[in-house]
Amino acid sequence: MTEAKSEKLVNDILKLKEERKAIVLAHNYQIGEVQDIAEFVGDSLGLSQQAAKTDAEVIVFCGVHFMAETAKILSPNKTVLMPDLNAGCAMANMITPRQLKEMKKKHPEAVVVTYVNTTAEIKAESDYCCTSANAVKVVQSIPQEKEILFIPDKYLGDFASRQANRKMILWEGYCPTHRRILAEDILKKKAQYPKAEVLVHPECTPDVIAMADKVLSTSGICRYAKESNSGEFIIGTEIGILHRLQKENPQKKFYPASNLADCSNMKLNNLEKILWSLEDMLYPVEVPPDIARRAKRSIDRMLEIV
Ligand code: 13P
Ligand code: SF4
Repeated sequence: MTEAKSEKLVNDILKLKEERKAIVLAHNYQIGEVQDIAEFVGDSLGLSQQAAKTDAEVIVFCGVHFMAETAKILSPNKTVLMPDLNAGCAMANMITPRQLKEMKKKHPEAVVVTYVNTTAEIKAESDYCCTSANAVKVVQSIPQEKEILFIPDKYLGDFASRQANRKMILWEGYCPTHRRILAEDILKKKAQYPKAEVLVHPECTPDVIAMADKVLSTSGICRYAKESNSGEFIIGTEIGILHRLQKENPQKKFYPASNLADCSNMKLNNLEKILWSLEDMLYPVEVPPDIARRAKRSIDRMLEIV
């Protein structure tokens, strides 16, 4: 895209945002241009907190479907738009309501802790929601004698289980993007940049997590990189985050653990689609009221803990 075309697109978006009383919320993995026109860029927890407190009438949600759905559940009277409805999350599709109901039948006493990367229907069947930023805290808040069923991410579940020193029943889900980051990638990068700190997301496999200096949510990684005295970092998460890291810390160096950690769903949004979305109010995200009410309980319980 030429610079003039991109400038015109940005100006048109800014004008329409004002007319529609709209804000753009963007996840840390979005492409740079999208992050740059957003009112707020953050992790799943930060985005849901922003969605709950904004007084904008329209939220253009640039992330994946479960995030927009969470925003709609927390702000039912607002219009929540997704510029591209195809932006789903592979992990969220790894458990269906039928599978969860069967699991609950097998473990009727278990408390269900559900990663936010799930559909509203799954959240509606859960006791607690959690994000990568607070999974450990949520698990720790549950009385010791209770059995916990943690869904759907087995790697985040394994991490939370070790940190909280708590045995849990884990579902077999995972993020295909994070699974592409291999322990040997970290080894290679460490040999290349021996002074760099290794920051990884808890969706990474246990062998990658074992090699990390810090295991953090996406916003946790951004916060840590700013505060740390180190000048170099190896980043074990989706590569879209490098835009924000580099923008906020121009004097520091960031190396992706693997260039293959690229979530194609997160990359479906772009400036053109945001403009069309604002022009024609596309594509509204709806959650049936009964599901929204039950899903909200699990999200509210999480927000109370943090
Ligand atoms: P965060 O909540 O850490 O931003 O993670 C969301 C996600 O989809 C990671 O793959
Ligand atoms: Fe889902 Fe993984 Fe993409 Fe995050 S990076 S949205 S968990 S597929």
